[in-house]
Amino acid sequence: MDRSAQPRTPVYLDHHATTPLDPRVLAAMMPYLTGKFGNAASRSHKFGWEAEQAVEESRRQIASLIGASPREIIFTSGATESDNLAIKGVAEAYAGKGDHLIVCAIEHKAVLDVCRRLEQRGARVTRLPVGRDGLVDPGAVEAAIEERTVLVSIMYANNEVGTLQPVAEIGRICRERGVLFHSDAAQAVGKVPVNVDADQIDLLSISAHKMYGPKGVGALYVREREPRVRLMGQMDGGGHERGMRSGTLNVPGIVGLGEACAICGREMDEESARLRRLRDRLRAKLEAELDEVSVNGGMEHRLPHNLNMSFACVEAESLMMGMSGVAVSSGSACTSAVMEPSYVLKAMGVADDAAHSSIRFSLGRFNTEEEVDYAAERTIEAVKKLRELSPMYEMTREGTWFK
Ligand SMILES: Cc1ncc(COP(=O)(O)O)c(C=O)c1O
Repeated sequence: MDRSAQPRTPVYLDHHATTPLDPRVLAAMMPYLTGKFGNAASRSHKFGWEAEQAVEESRRQIASLIGASPREIIFTSGATESDNLAIKGVAEAYAGKGDHLIVCAIEHKAVLDVCRRLEQRGARVTRLPVGRDGLVDPGAVEAAIEERTVLVSIMYANNEVGTLQPVAEIGRICRERGVLFHSDAAQAVGKVPVNVDADQIDLLSISAHKMYGPKGVGALYVREREPRVRLMGQMDGGGHERGMRSGTLNVPGIVGLGEACAICGREMDEESARLRRLRDRLRAKLEAELDEVSVNGGMEHRLPHNLNMSFACVEAESLMMGMSGVAVSSGSACTSAVMEPSYVLKAMGVADDAAHSSIRFSLGRFNTEEEVDYAAERTIEAVKKLRELSPMYEMTREGTWFK
């Protein structure tokens, strides 16, 4: 692996947004972008057979990473589609049983917006709060389950603060109460051990581009036994993927996802320890040089490569401009020309000004120690410079700033 001493700028620390394609994944995909171009549904010639074989190998690789059986893997275009298929598919298939869903407030929009759509169609949705640590209380899940609850959907790992939800406990509760459990694991699979049996998960969303695979491909795990999950397909057509997702399979993408899973499975232990060291080094450097900083979300149950920090009296947008040479993202989003604080941080009880001053650092496979040091230095420089211009900062330090 090429981890040269000199930082390559800009240093990419935005791996929750997307990850670079691992060259080993590209190498596995190449034959299927060139000579082996067959349609996996073609049953009458070698081109189809070799494509089908490659797809089945990928199914095995994915299943093996999450403790599933290959038949339980349905290919999709990514986690957004997997979330749509899981939630809408279950809501439709189980409409006779009930009309109630449970999610948490910090789910990705691919879950929250699907719920809003289902509400317009008459469903009822409970959105559970999270604590300051970014975690859902499993007891609150249990208390929210009703007679007519058909699905609980709680993400495995959050994409802003990296917190890992108590999925095994939630899975146990759902199984006991006879309610299906879906988890959006786009940020978790390949980064931390995920086992659908140990966690008693019935549906699980996966995305290739979050794990050094290609964009536009993902998978949905759908439990086949105890219980057998029924799902109403959302795409009508040729009946691919056992009728759950019609459409010609993206063979090169699927091969890439499989290879990405195999690599993550082999390297996860070592890589997560390395990333945790780098992440803690970044945090230590920032905290050593800067006062009035705080980490958003608990550190205990957290992805090893995530650091979300607020820098008091500094606007994240200005900070990112000052940190040229480092690619990160902020805890604000631009909606209709105004900056809105992140709904995730808000749900965790982070004040608006702290959310507006938050930066999400997410480290990845090709980051080096030198790159992390470079990022820390650029951040420290930029924060100090902006604070020099800030009367609020002086008042905060002197304790004369009252909100
Ligand atoms: C938690 C989570 N769910 C879903 C998605 C959407 O994934 P995709 O880009 O594969 O549609 C993302 C990506 O931002 C994510 O972080």
